[in-house]
Amino acid sequence: MTLESERSEVISYKRLYRLWEENGWSATGLDFSTDAKHWDEMLTDRQREAALWNYAMFLIGEEAVARTLSPVLDAAPTHEQKIFLTTQIVDEARHHVFFDRFMREVAGQGTDIDTTLSAVDGLVTWGFRQIFDELDRVTDALRKKPNDRALLAQSVALYHVVVEGMLAIPGQHFIQRYVEKMEILPAFSEGITNVSRDESRHVAFGIRFLGELVASSTECRSAAIEMFDRVLPWAVGVFVPPNLDPSYAECFDFTLEEIYAFGLRSFETKLNRLGIDPNEISLLSRDDSTYPYDERARRMWVLIRCGIIGDEKREPEVSPEALGILFEGLTNMVDLDVARSLGGPIEFDLTDAEKWHVEVNNGHAEARSGAAHNPALTLQSTAADWAKISVNRMDPRKALLTRKLKVHGSLSSKAKLPKLFAF
Ligand SMILES: [Fe+2]
Ligand SMILES: [Fe+2]
Repeated sequence: MTLESERSEVISYKRLYRLWEENGWSATGLDFSTDAKHWDEMLTDRQREAALWNYAMFLIGEEAVARTLSPVLDAAPTHEQKIFLTTQIVDEARHHVFFDRFMREVAGQGTDIDTTLSAVDGLVTWGFRQIFDELDRVTDALRKKPNDRALLAQSVALYHVVVEGMLAIPGQHFIQRYVEKMEILPAFSEGITNVSRDESRHVAFGIRFLGELVASSTECRSAAIEMFDRVLPWAVGVFVPPNLDPSYAECFDFTLEEIYAFGLRSFETKLNRLGIDPNEISLLSRDDSTYPYDERARRMWVLIRCGIIGDEKREPEVSPEALGILFEGLTNMVDLDVARSLGGPIEFDLTDAEKWHVEVNNGHAEARSGAAHNPALTLQSTAADWAKISVNRMDPRKALLTRKLKVHGSLSSKAKLPKLFAF
């Protein structure tokens, strides 16, 4: 039986270890000579650039996950967990060797394991940097406090669920698809198939392990949710190409929206298996889950292109379509009882864009563009500041203090503001 066919069942730690023994492979045994020829002769300049950009994140990522798993191994409560985690550290080291060889022997980056890593370091994205800095932070904290179960839950949530399950596996899926379809890079293709099989095993372990931690205490459960909340805005930024150029994906016959839809579906499936409702995650709770994943990914990309999510160094340039998406998301964040008690609509007086308003009708909140008739409360800010507040980039309380957000209305309406939105 393969891991794929077992995926829906709960896989025992013993079975996962046995699969590791059965699925062994050699990163040093691969012959990259044909790949090197393909790289020079069959790939276009853009394909080489795109592959380098994408594989650089795998190389740096594999080095980081090989290095940061030992605190999890030390903290794991049972022998079976420790045995599997030991195999996983070996896997991650092998993945590092694999990407390192490709980068040097095929893509011509660096002259040894250290210089190859530093040669591609500048290619990683803002989101990638944030995610891996956090991985260093949380595993470092766990190293100092190996008995802290909440830190263990957070480490596994970030490592196995986000980094491996939500980012690495979807990335590898698209790479595997195009190298097979285009019949290019045979040794790389063989290696990435093996890497991908290993990662599925790691994620299956992580879901089981974190599932047990989450079920064991509300503290672990909240800690895992807190970690997902912290890192999701960064995860969105991991696969944002230089200059937001879609040809980084399209040159290999897929779209950025497609890979985001795949990652989002994969993340929500994992949350469900952990017994966590996606609505418990702040960024997902704003999303209308009745839309199909490709539409949700398309809308996410509208926000990324406007600089609202995906790279917090960018100042948002908010389009009317992005505003529509933000206000629709806001309706899921409104406390209906508080909104009703205002006795009138809430108006958003955006000083450099069209006004919007939100009101409660027939038991649910609706957002419409345009001024409100007799608003009970008016919130005033620039569109960019409102966009930042909407996606948790700006704290609304701070925005009020610094007058970036102003509120108009009766004293009793203003007093209800802190409870009006679930920010
Ligand atoms: Fe790996
Ligand atoms: Fe892994």
